[in-house]
Formats: sequence, C-alpha cells, structure tokens
Amino acid sequence: VPSVDALWPKVQSFTFKGCGVVLGDDQDYLLEPRLGPLTREFGHRSIAELVDAACTSLPSSPVARAVIDAMTTHESLFFRDLQFWRAFEEIVIPRVLESARGRKLRVWSAACSHGQEAYSLAILLAEKWPAVDTEILGTDVSLPAVERARVGLYTALEVNRGLSASRLVQHFQKEPGGFRLRKELRDRITWSVHNLLGSNSDFSGCDVVMCRNVLIYFSDRDRKTTLARIEASVRPEGFIAVGGTETTPRASIAPGWYTKQSAQRAGSL
Ligand SMILES: C[S@@+](CC[C@H](N)C(=O)[O-])C[C@H]1O[C@@H](n2cnc3c(N)ncnc32)[C@H](O)[C@@H]1O
Repeated sequence: VPSVDALWPKVQSFTFKGCGVVLGDDQDYLLEPRLGPLTREFGHRSIAELVDAACTSLPSSPVARAVIDAMTTHESLFFRDLQFWRAFEEIVIPRVLESARGRKLRVWSAACSHGQEAYSLAILLAEKWPAVDTEILGTDVSLPAVERARVGLYTALEVNRGLSASRLVQHFQKEPGGFRLRKELRDRITWSVHNLLGSNSDFSGCDVVMCRNVLIYFSDRDRKTTLARIEASVRPEGFIAVGGTETTPRASIAPGWYTKQSAQRAGSL
C-alpha cells in the first residue's frame, strides 16, 4: 500500500485532470474524511485501492465520478450574495428583456452544485416576471450533485440559509427529509452533467451565464480559457456572472456581474 505521501499526489492529479480543481500540497488531511466513506461504500480495503480503481476506470464510471464528487466543494446556498441578486433583478434582467424583445430567454447556471442557484433564479423569475418565457439550464461536473439538484429536496438547515419564510411556504412543500421545490418550478429547469473544461457547444446563445465560486478552484490557465469559452456562449448583449471573490480583468457593472461587451473591449475574445 503506498504511503499517504505517494497517494496524495495521485489524488491531486486525478482531480486536476478530471475537473481542473487544484488541490493544495498541504490538503492531504482531506484524504480520510472525503475518501474513507467511499472506500467502504465501494468495498475496497484501503483508500489507496479506491484511488487506484478510480484512476484505472473510465471517467464516467461510478467510482471515478464518486471520487471527483468527494474531492470537490459543493457549498452553495439560495440567493447567495444578496447584492448580486439585487443587481440581477434591478439591472441584468431588465436590460436582457429589453434586448430580447419578447423572445424566449436562455439562462445557464454552470457549476450549479445542488441546484440552489438555478432554483433561486427560477423563484425570482416566477415572482417578478411570471409571463416571461425562460429556459433555465443547470449543469455541474458532478453527477451526484446534478441528481440531487433534479430532485430538489433540501434539509431544514439548507432552506434556512437564504430563503425567507414566505418564499419557503410559497415555493416548497414539506416532504419526508425536508422541503422540496414545487413541481412547477422543478419542471422549469433542464439539468445535465457538463464539464467546464470541455466544449460548451450545447450552451450557445445564452442571455446570462452564471459561473460562480468554481473558478477559484482552477489554475490560472484553466480560469482564463473557461471564462473565454463562457463568454463565447453568451449573446452579444448578454451578461456573465462570477463569484464575489473571483475578480476578472473585465469591467464589472455590479458585484459579480460583467457584460459580454465589456469582455470584448478588454480584448479577451
Ligand atoms: C462551491 S460549488 C459552487 C456552486 C454555485 N455555483 C454557487 O456559487 O453557490 C462548486 C461546484 O463546481 C463544480 N465543479 C468543479 N469543477 C467543475 C468543472 N470542471 N465543470 C463543472 N463544474 C465543476 C463542483 O462539482 C461544485 O458543485
């Protein structure tokens, strides 16, 4: 059995190749809490054996997917960053609606984790613009995350972070295990597995793309190429959102937001 010293670089390289997430040399304390439970679940005798199985299996195999899922952070919440959502409501949507002139809107929540961001979007649109026809896409590299998002069931703790009592009553129903988004809202979102390191050809022509709190985990190089690909999938008058701490050289119009036009002026396209 290889020592932890040999094992951690293997996990780092597997995760980096699989999804671009850079794990630090000093983060090997994550091995046991993240991969210990999976080792037992997949019937392996050691973490080393589990990692070996993941490295020698297809990226789409359950064990490879489970290791990527376990090594990435899925922290998310409803209406994360209120200033960001206020700007979405007061600036972004009105401007998008003006340029769309009645055609269907297309909004993509990339790296959506367990779906809170896409559902926040659907909630806001249902409340403020119920008549606007909007296609909402939610994607993540993690299949378990996408499956959870699709089910739309959250614990009391999760819904208490970011949702008002009236929103909870209006948009969720109580079910065993927690609170579930009502079917009308769940049906408005199309979920799929998508790796930001790959092609975005299925996601062209978006009015808005949200790609928040994922680029921070990428290398400089992957961050740049990912942003350029995201910008290419946005319409000329469209908007791009990154996380509050993910500064970009593009001029920002509000916390987390910039436009495709400002990206073009900055010469990144
Ligand atoms: C911290 S969560 C952010 C969730 C949400 N965007 C938010 O801001 O609340 C980061 C998510 O990025 C996903 N992720 C990591 N690498 C990815 C990649 N290469 N392509 C797509 N998603 C990725 C992870 O699976 C995780 O669910």
